[in-house]
Amino acid sequence: MSEQQLDILGICGSLRRGSYNLKLLEAARELAPPGMSIEICTLHDIPMYSPDIEKAGIPPVVAQFKERIAAADGVLVATPEYNYGIPGALKNAIDWFSRPAGGSPLRFKPVALMGASTGNFGTVRAQMVLRQIFLYTRSYAMLEPEVTVFNVQQRFDESGRLTDEPTREFVSGLLAALAEWIRECQDRGG
Ligand code: FNR
Repeated sequence: MSEQQLDILGICGSLRRGSYNLKLLEAARELAPPGMSIEICTLHDIPMYSPDIEKAGIPPVVAQFKERIAAADGVLVATPEYNYGIPGALKNAIDWFSRPAGGSPLRFKPVALMGASTGNFGTVRAQMVLRQIFLYTRSYAMLEPEVTVFNVQQRFDESGRLTDEPTREFVSGLLAALAEWIRECQDRGG
């Protein structure tokens, strides 16, 4: 029997040109196991959430993003840590994607987390915050492995390729676990 094709939506929490988290997603795309494809999205075009804007009509860019989440078999978030939390752009986007509360495309969606920082803790605190947010959205946030890439500036070459072998293995392990996690969630009827 052939393996199921898995379409993953990779979301980058950083808006920075040259973001390490974006590069980490690009590495994930390169390391994806057979049968898995990763489409990478950034959040530059997402407006600030306001219930008034939502009431007047969901912006097309938000609606299209939500459709992409709904169509994906799973979501892979790569986020920096900002002030022990997640960047405002990512929180804002999740606020949009979480609506309406009972009909969000994040509801029962398998989600994997990873993150890179230039500091010594590799987004540990940001990922805890993200997990808390995904409790409200009822997303199936995968528990492990945790991919927390510290001192990230040492792990890429000048062309932006992830060259650090242990980090490549962590990312590969995360993707293999995500494939398994998606199947478990689907068996559960998610
Ligand atoms: C940071 N950075 C940071 N790092 C960290 O480990 N813990 C933190 O709380 C913070 N806080 C923080 C706040 C703000 C406003 C900025 C701009 C930066 C450092 C940050 O993790 C680092 O710059 C990453 O490289 C950013 O990720 P990208 O943009 O390279 O993907």
